[in-house]
Amino acid sequence: MNFSIRQLESVDSTNQFLQQCADKKNVEEGFVVWAKEQTAGRGHGRNTWESEPDKNLTFSLLLKPVFVSPEHQFLLTQIVSLAIVEVLKEILPDETITIKWPNDIYIDNNKVAGILIQNFIKGQHIDYSIVGIGLNVNQAHFFSDAPNPVSLMQITNKTLDLKDLLNKLLKRIQMIYEQSVSNLWRAEINKRYLTHLYRNKEKALFKEKALQFEATILGIGKFGKLILQLESGEEKQYSFKEVEFII
Ligand code: BTN
Repeated sequence: MNFSIRQLESVDSTNQFLQQCADKKNVEEGFVVWAKEQTAGRGHGRNTWESEPDKNLTFSLLLKPVFVSPEHQFLLTQIVSLAIVEVLKEILPDETITIKWPNDIYIDNNKVAGILIQNFIKGQHIDYSIVGIGLNVNQAHFFSDAPNPVSLMQITNKTLDLKDLLNKLLKRIQMIYEQSVSNLWRAEINKRYLTHLYRNKEKALFKEKALQFEATILGIGKFGKLILQLESGEEKQYSFKEVEFII
């Protein structure tokens, strides 16, 4: 995969922009839209993504994962979250950096990065995927009502070069993505994802609709569902948005 980076001063959302490009013409895998500013950055569901102009990384990458069947699309989530965690661990070796299932990147109990992957499925295969990443890098203060944002600068007191960080992330995503073609590597990726999973094997507080309960994370099911052991001993699998962590 060859990366080609299109840098924009300002755009509504890099995911949206990339989708429009992909709709209009045949965009190649590895095309990246990187914006200094997003005026309507999107998070999961109805959430927005706060990012002060020119302070953080907000970009979207186009993938054409022909080797991933739609039912195994969680693999893409694993690849991208793992790549971010591993790059951040090189920069901050002493910090606890984890993946809060399914794909929030945490430093201790604070969110440093969010991932929004949109898979466009045609028939039995994924036609293309838009991998949107927002990583808080040099922002000193956060103003939105996001519960627990943090930036790398708030931890290191140093500003980081955005272009350099972007290149590191893209290279790491590429490496794990290319490895993931093989089943042996998929098992390894799954293992590494689990080692970095936030609160894995620990008792934590969750919420299902209005109901709060304690449970222990046992791991991740075949299709990326979160496996919890309830107080009663019963094991239950949850898909995204069915259950929420209480931090
Ligand atoms: C989340 O945690 O809710 C996902 C946040 C994803 C934010 C990124 S920033 C770049 C890309 N463009 C968007 O509009 N959203 C993603």
